[in-house]
Amino acid sequence: MSVSKLKILITGGAGFIGSNFIHYLLKTYVNYKIVNFDKLTYAGNLENLQDFENDKRYAFVQGDICDIQKVREVVQQYGKFDAIINFAAETHVDRSLTCAGSFIQTDIFGAFVLLEAVKDLQIPRFIQISTDEVYGDIDFPKKSKETDKLHPSSPYSASKAGGDLQVLAYQRTYNLPVIITRSTNNYGPYQYPEKLLPLFITNLLEGKKVPLYDQGTQIRDWIYVEDNCKALDLVLHKGVLGEIYNIGAENKPEITNLEITQRLLRIFQKDSKQIEPVNGLRPGHDQRYAVDSAKIRALGWQPEVDFEQGLQITVDWYKNNKKWWQKIKSGEFKEYYQKHYQSK
Ligand code: NAD
Ligand code: TYD
Repeated sequence: MSVSKLKILITGGAGFIGSNFIHYLLKTYVNYKIVNFDKLTYAGNLENLQDFENDKRYAFVQGDICDIQKVREVVQQYGKFDAIINFAAETHVDRSLTCAGSFIQTDIFGAFVLLEAVKDLQIPRFIQISTDEVYGDIDFPKKSKETDKLHPSSPYSASKAGGDLQVLAYQRTYNLPVIITRSTNNYGPYQYPEKLLPLFITNLLEGKKVPLYDQGTQIRDWIYVEDNCKALDLVLHKGVLGEIYNIGAENKPEITNLEITQRLLRIFQKDSKQIEPVNGLRPGHDQRYAVDSAKIRALGWQPEVDFEQGLQITVDWYKNNKKWWQKIKSGEFKEYYQKHYQSK
């Protein structure tokens, strides 16, 4: 799909990756129109998109992807979309351990509702934003391939896997024009400070300790969010319908959570006393994720920001945008933090 004007419905665009993707698309393609359909859960934040409030190419609609009526209304109101890209999800593993219901509802049922809309309203392209976590953890030096069986470990990843299976079933049964992407852990601006990097950065900025789970031996394949956005751009325009694309930085050497923590401590000139060792907060904790991303690389993509560079950009962003995260940390987050981290 390569046209100079596209109208795209982005769900979950007020969250971390979705808002970065909207920034990226509107910066890159002057003639694209985007409708952002988001429920505005605790993780949705319209401040992420303030730059576009008065931009005629952008519109925001508050709504739930589980609400079929509302989804249809939006498509009817704005006219047929060239693509729907589904970022909307409940996304935090730790929260899924205590309230899996909302994950099952949004990540599985919500995907089903969008697929029904794609089928009935004949949307020509549906991109499901999934995650490498659906493969479960994998021993070194193996890497998960798109054809691997799914082995999710947490209620979050099981819900995402359920969404993926719905997408694949609709593709097989109704020949729907779908694509799935499975990226590794993203980091960068606008990430809600419950996730490892923004939590540790903002805690260090506040002079607080960083809660490192299970000795920090776990490995994630950290990808800078703009690199993921560039991969999604390629999938939107050149991805082959019916395919799944892994998107991973394939960091060499791989980086453990402890190493990330030590790098941050060096940046902030703090010592290891700043680490609060935490055990048992994440039962079923996946040890290592790693994907083989040869397929998206063959389409013409490769990551451009290495981890050291991306980490510094991210630290600088949180240093320069204190108001953004201080507001979050003083709201709903405070209650969540106390309840979660004091539960052991
Ligand atoms: P996020 O938690 O920052 O944002 C999720 C957004 O979805 C929020 O704006 C929220 O309001 C919205 N939302 C939630 N439920 C909704 C519903 N029922 N209807 C409409 N909107 C709803 O998430 P993120 O980190 O930006 O992740 C986006 C997508 O990418 C998710 O599907 C996630 O599974 C996937 N993913 C994330 C990562 C990562 O490292 N963050 C890695 C791989 C895949
Ligand atoms: P997270 O950012 O929650 O992403 P995911 O679980 O989806 O990979 O966690 C990344 C890693 O960091 C994971 O191994 C758990 C660990 N972690 C901590 O050590 N402390 C924390 O407070 C958090 C939130 C995560």
